[in-house]
This record gives sequence, structure tokens and C-alpha cells, in this order.
Amino acid sequence: MNYSIAIDGPAGAGKSTIAKKLAQKLQYIYVDTGAMYRAMAIYFLDHGILPEDEASIRKACENVRIRIEYEEGAQQVILNDENVTARLRREEVGTMASKTSVYPEVRKKLVELQKELARVQNVIMDGRDIGTCVLPDATLKVYLTASVEARAKRRFDELKGKGETPDIQVIEADIRERDERDMNREVSPLRQAEDAVLVDSSNMTIEEVVECMEGLFHNKIKQR
Ligand code: DC
Repeated sequence: MNYSIAIDGPAGAGKSTIAKKLAQKLQYIYVDTGAMYRAMAIYFLDHGILPEDEASIRKACENVRIRIEYEEGAQQVILNDENVTARLRREEVGTMASKTSVYPEVRKKLVELQKELARVQNVIMDGRDIGTCVLPDATLKVYLTASVEARAKRRFDELKGKGETPDIQVIEADIRERDERDMNREVSPLRQAEDAVLVDSSNMTIEEVVECMEGLFHNKIKQR
């Protein structure tokens, strides 16, 4: 049987940073499920499909093929044979992904792919519904969160580091809006699984979170 670590939590809590580092330490495969919803969003954007147009989205789902590959350990997302990895992190793509991930057709397709990836190898997977829906039997489940203020500050620093002039209030408002949507949708909303460990990273460094999760994981394995 494979081992798996499920990390869920709101946007900006540091899930992918932590998951990547932990995956490297444990030599596990890191699966970024948000990237898959983002790839779907790129398809909708490229085809002029509006997020409220459920009928077109449902139909489009039949034509979308998403595949995951790894290049030197880094996840690549292939959308209908095109590598769209470089476009995934754009702001409009994240917003579109949040809006279109509410549809059952979109989720069904991606959850199947995610389950299959975890079936054949040891994985660390992050997203919103990993502990509750994709990997209900994960070896370790963590709900990684941080205050809105801490998450906004990190994003602010990240954008400043790229030479941009971000507005902290706009960032905070975006985060609140994204939380609201991800936590209150009907299908698989973001919530802490009953058996998930809550980790609040507001006042923790990246290294501290990684160490904490590594400890939690080794304890879980010992208990088995
Ligand atoms: O983690 P992220 O910001 O890349 O995710 C983008 C959006 O995709 C997020 O706002 C909600 C959706 N998502 C989801 O519904 N389920 C997941 N497992 C991962 C992401």
C-alpha cells in the first residue's frame, strides 16, 4: 500500500511551498491539484466560456484532456497536448479556477485523475478537498491555514519581490472573496476533515511548518 499526505487549506496558506519541500525530503511525488483546476480554467478562458455558463462548461469538460508529467521533479500540466504550466499562476486563471471548480462535472474529472495518481505511488497532494474527498484514507491529513492578514502580507512581499507595486487592501479583499467562494460552494467545499491535524502557519517559518509536518507523518507511520 502507498503512503499519502493530504494538505488542504485556503489560498495563500503556504500549502504548495510546504508540500514541495516535504515531498523532496521524503522522496514522494508532489501533486498540485489547484494546477489542474487552473488548467481547466485556461481552457474556458481560451474558448471564451463564461464562468456562469454551466451548460457550456459541462460540454467543454468532454473535450478537455489533462495530463500530469514531471520534469526534473517539477509538475507539468498538459492541456490537450499543450504544456500550460507557465500560464497557471496568473491572477485571472486563479479566479476563473475558483469560479468554475464549483461545477460537479469539472470536479469529477479531476478527482478521478488525482485518485489514480495516488493509487500508483506515494504522494503529497494539496488542494481543498483532498482529505475530505480525494484521499479519505490518507496516511496523514493536515489542514494548513493562516490568518487573512498573514496570507495577504506574504502575497504582498512576493509581488514586491517581483518589482510590482501591490496594494495590501486589494490583496486582502481578494483573499476574503476567494475564501468565501471556496468554503461555501455546494460541492466539496473547503473544510477541515474530522481526522485532519490543524496547523496554523501565521507565526511559523516555512522550515518550522515542514518540520512539524514531518514529525506528524512519522508519528502516524509508527502508530500503524
Ligand atoms: O490552490 P490554487 O489557488 O491553485 O487553486 C485554484 C482554485 O482551484 C481554488 O480557488 C479552488 C480550486 N480548487 C479546488 O476546488 N479543489 C482543489 N482540490 C484544488 C483547487
